[in-house]
Amino acid sequence: MRAVQFTTYGPADVLDIVDVETPSPSAGEILIQVAGAGINQLDAKLRAGMMSGGAPLTAPSGTGFDAAGTVLDVGTDVDDVAPGDVVFGIGRNTLAEQAVLNAWAKVPGGVDPVEASGWGVAVETAHRLLFELGIHDGTILLSGASGGVGSALIQLAAARGLRVIGTASEHNQAYLRELGAVAVTYGSGLVGRVETVAPEGVDGALDLSGKGVIGELIALVGDPTKVISISDFTAPQLGARVSTGDGRTTDPRDALAEAAALPAFGLHIDRRFELADAAIAHRTSEAGHTRGKLIVIP
Ligand SMILES: NC(=O)c1ccc[n+]([C@@H]2O[C@H](COP(=O)([O-])OP(=O)(O)OC[C@H]3O[C@@H](n4cnc5c(N)ncnc54)[C@H](OP(=O)(O)O)[C@@H]3O)[C@@H](O)[C@H]2O)c1
Repeated sequence: MRAVQFTTYGPADVLDIVDVETPSPSAGEILIQVAGAGINQLDAKLRAGMMSGGAPLTAPSGTGFDAAGTVLDVGTDVDDVAPGDVVFGIGRNTLAEQAVLNAWAKVPGGVDPVEASGWGVAVETAHRLLFELGIHDGTILLSGASGGVGSALIQLAAARGLRVIGTASEHNQAYLRELGAVAVTYGSGLVGRVETVAPEGVDGALDLSGKGVIGELIALVGDPTKVISISDFTAPQLGARVSTGDGRTTDPRDALAEAAALPAFGLHIDRRFELADAAIAHRTSEAGHTRGKLIVIP
């Protein structure tokens, strides 16, 4: 089967399409025929070697965590899906014709699997952040709300009855409102703009884009422990928390099931790419202004 791989860390040009053996699902995993695979900013960070601690790449690596498609095979201990079912979820090396998933849910009836192919990581992260924030009513603020994680968060939080304020560029203000958030622009004067739309205050804040706003989020919330970042690892210096996928506090399968059960859940697809254009997809993600998700179709 065809898959995207790289044999050295570097810029997006290191990505190649190669022929590789179809992977086999281990216990608790499934193999799918990939209808679409979502791009996450983590993909480019891993490809660039930013997560390797300086160690060189010693073997070819695939790329991609999100995918949706048709189940081809299931490992032992899997009894909730069977070959032929259409699922979305989180796995490894998903920019390929076939890929292994280790967390999944069935694609809701009437939804094109390509539409669900970028839901996995965004939904898992959004669900985990809401759990870790622990706010069950009131108002939350999302910094960088128009990307994949923010788009998922607005929908999950609103469905739980939270009022959501999101920041985005001018270009994405109407998009945030369509998803159900109160929209404000990011940048200088953020605190004043949020206070105007939330005179009663903000109960918690999530920093998604990591653009150095932790101090402003703490000023708005008044309690650093109610501020969590997923991309600013200096946040603890100000008393805020960082959430990562390592040592997860929640089960990804619960997250995927929650999104699948929401009647109108969806993530806007900003752009679709062919497998041969995986490098362009990585570069587009790295530019940092994706609205919703970028999808690669093998
Ligand atoms: N720790 C974890 O568990 C975890 C999990 C998932 C993702 N992440 C990380 O979290 C970050 C966000 O992920 P994502 O998937 O949502 O990214 P994404 O889909 O690429 O979205 C990026 C968003 O950032 C916004 N943005 C750009 N500059 C901004 C600024 N100065 N202030 C506020 N927002 C700004 C953009 O909005 P505009 O286009 O409107 O400018 C865009 O919508 C990435 O760095 C990713 O690697 C961490």
